[in-house]
Amino acid sequence: MNKEEFIAQYAVERKHTNSAKWDGLEATFGRDDLLPLWVADTEFKIPQAAQDALIQRVHHGAFGYSLTPDEYYDAYFAWQKGRYQTELQKDWMRFGLGVVNALSTIVRALTLPGESIMVLQPVYYPFMRVIQENDRHLVVSNLRAENDTYVMDMEDIANKMDQHHVKMLIFCSPHNPVGKVWSEQELTTLLELCREKQVLVVSDEIHHDLIVGDKPFISALSIAQGIYRDNTVMVDSPSKTFNMAALLGSNIVIPNPQLRERYDKEVRELSLPSATVMAQTAATAAYRDGASWLEGLLAVIKDNYLYVKECLQAVDPQIKVADLQGTYLAWVDLSSVVAPEHLEYFIKHKAHLAVDFGDWFGEAGEGHIRLNLATTPAIVHQAMDQLAQAIVENKEVTQ
Ligand SMILES: Cc1ncc(COP(=O)(O)O)c(C=O)c1O
Repeated sequence: MNKEEFIAQYAVERKHTNSAKWDGLEATFGRDDLLPLWVADTEFKIPQAAQDALIQRVHHGAFGYSLTPDEYYDAYFAWQKGRYQTELQKDWMRFGLGVVNALSTIVRALTLPGESIMVLQPVYYPFMRVIQENDRHLVVSNLRAENDTYVMDMEDIANKMDQHHVKMLIFCSPHNPVGKVWSEQELTTLLELCREKQVLVVSDEIHHDLIVGDKPFISALSIAQGIYRDNTVMVDSPSKTFNMAALLGSNIVIPNPQLRERYDKEVRELSLPSATVMAQTAATAAYRDGASWLEGLLAVIKDNYLYVKECLQAVDPQIKVADLQGTYLAWVDLSSVVAPEHLEYFIKHKAHLAVDFGDWFGEAGEGHIRLNLATTPAIVHQAMDQLAQAIVENKEVTQ
């Protein structure tokens, strides 16, 4: 499906629909008149086949306790194998209400209070939350900016793993917020190091369908014919790809039976529910029939990204827009035009935008903003007009 068809069929107004992104501005930003490019969901309806499947399920009318249907496994496995050559097995699979909720369960099940867990910042801030709120010790290694992307600092990672006796790495692949798709070489080096140091890898692959550059996505489960599988837990969800976050469903893949047993024990102790029937109904249809819909979405993201990059570089060539290889999130360094300590005020009260501020993702994110591009070109163009004008006015004032 091309971009125009996709927008015509799927774009939808979300204001006044109890959308966290549109109707929840006041609580986070202190005003409700901002153009929102923050929360990572989209202004697009789910694929038609998924809407139809939900309607059909609603018509059935009964919503008693449910099992994960075989069709869900079949559709998810075919999607993973067909697109990424990732082979999965039924007994490896567990289901949760969301990825962050699954990360929290994994942390509790597979580490002890006080143990060290590493993240690579800047990174999706709930990673830090699930570590700290569960009384584990947060260890940070910063990614290094290199040209217009980021690389892992392997020496720093190795040193800190030793120094803090790190037990687990929560890894983001592709990486939110910097938009990086990790290469086979990078993944192999990292996974080998983790195996050597007995650091369990939790690979959050929720953005794996959102590949907008030339680099292919490779799952941590399938690197080197899966030799790191026993030391890896992979978590993903159809929610990011297909805009289904509120339906509540995630996939937790645990190939190692001992780890699975510990995970199951934690689930029993907390009496955690599995994914919802509506999430799995919609996802089955989306995995089966959503490829063309996804093509349309990716075309929109790519064009929006190019527009943002051109626009900001025309305003000031010093503004750095990270190369968008994956995710629908543009990572923009505005430190050349706005002092980091004024950035929040500037974005809210001058540009009138709601964005994710870089320092939410850790100190390494200071001076940056993260823009959600999975929206209509009209919204992106308006946001760029507002931001460009604010930058120009800011320059006039400071000159
Ligand atoms: C890396 C990453 N993990 C998890 C999530 C959220 O997942 P869920 O809504 O299923 O908890 C997001 C949402 O933006 C994300 O970027």
